[in-house]
Amino acid sequence: MITSNPILQPKKTFPEEVYLNGEWINPKRAFVSVFDRGFMLGDGIYEVTPFYDGKPFRLKDHLDRLQYCLNEVQIELDAFSLKEIMLEAVSRAGLSKSDCAVYIQINRGVAPRTHFFPEQIEPTVLLYAFPVSLNGFENKQASVLVSEDLRWHRCDIKSISLMANIKANDQAHSLGLDENLLIRDGFFTEGSHTSIFFVKNKMIFTHPEGPHILSGITRKVILEICREMELELSEKALHINELKDVTEVFLTGTTTQILSVKSMLLNEKEIFNMPETGEITRQLQEAFITLTRSLS
Ligand code: PDD
Repeated sequence: MITSNPILQPKKTFPEEVYLNGEWINPKRAFVSVFDRGFMLGDGIYEVTPFYDGKPFRLKDHLDRLQYCLNEVQIELDAFSLKEIMLEAVSRAGLSKSDCAVYIQINRGVAPRTHFFPEQIEPTVLLYAFPVSLNGFENKQASVLVSEDLRWHRCDIKSISLMANIKANDQAHSLGLDENLLIRDGFFTEGSHTSIFFVKNKMIFTHPEGPHILSGITRKVILEICREMELELSEKALHINELKDVTEVFLTGTTTQILSVKSMLLNEKEIFNMPETGEITRQLQEAFITLTRSLS
C-alpha cells in the first residue's frame, strides 16, 4: 500500500453535526433504515457546493444541477428549499469565515426492496458542512493515471452509485497518483471526480456536455472565463492519439478548482509530461482566484 499523500485527498474528519430529515444531530446518533433505498440500491443523488471564506460560490448553479438530477430520477423535492439549510450548516459548523463545502445527499426513501420506484415515500435528506482547503492549487501539479471509462451512460446524473468512479480513483491512489482520467472509445471523457481540459495549438478543448460527463459547475465557470478572456475554445472530446500535440492539461472541480497535470501514465508508460504549469492554465487560475476571492 502506498503511503504518499495525493493532492486531491480531502481531510478525513467526521462533522460534529449533520442535518438528517429535518433534524440537526450528532452523526454518531444519525441513522437511516437498512431499507433506505440509498443504502440498499444506491438509489439516490448528491451535490457538493463550495464556500470560499464562508461564502457560497455558484449556489444557484449547484441547486439547479441538483434539481435536474432529482427530476431525472423522479425524486420529488424542491432543491431550492435546501438553500437556507445549507447556509445554516456552514454557520452551525463554525465555518462562516472559512473555506468549506456542503454535501447534500437525497435518497428515494424507505420502502420494501423493489426494482421499480415505489410511490408516495418520503425522500431521505442528509446535509452537512465540512472544511476543505481551497487555496494553493495554483502551486501544485498532479500526476494522473489514464484508464478505460467503465461507467454507465448517464454520467450527467450525480448518482451516489459511484463504484466505477471510486474503483478508478483507488487504482490511481494505490499507485501514489492523484486522479484517474477516463477514456471511452479512445476519447477522454473526464476524471473520476474532475472535469478535464486540454490545450492544443492555443485552443482549449473539453468534452461536450451530455450523458458521458457530469456537467461540472467549475467547468461551466472556466468556459465563461475563457469566453470573457477571448481564449479559443472548443467543446469537443480529445482522442488519446491527439495527445502528442497537447501542451497543457488541467483538471477542474469543486474541491480541485484548476489543477495543472504534470504527467499521465497509461499501461505503465508515461504518455504526457509537462513539468511546468502552462501559460493558459496560469491565466485561468489567476482569473478563477480573483472570482472566488471577491464574493459578496
Ligand atoms: N465531484 N466529474 C465528476 C465525475 C465529478 O464527480 C465532479 C465533482 C466533477 C466536477 O464537477 P464540479 O465542478 O461541479 O465539482 C466532474 C465532486 C466534487 C465529488 O464527487 O465530490
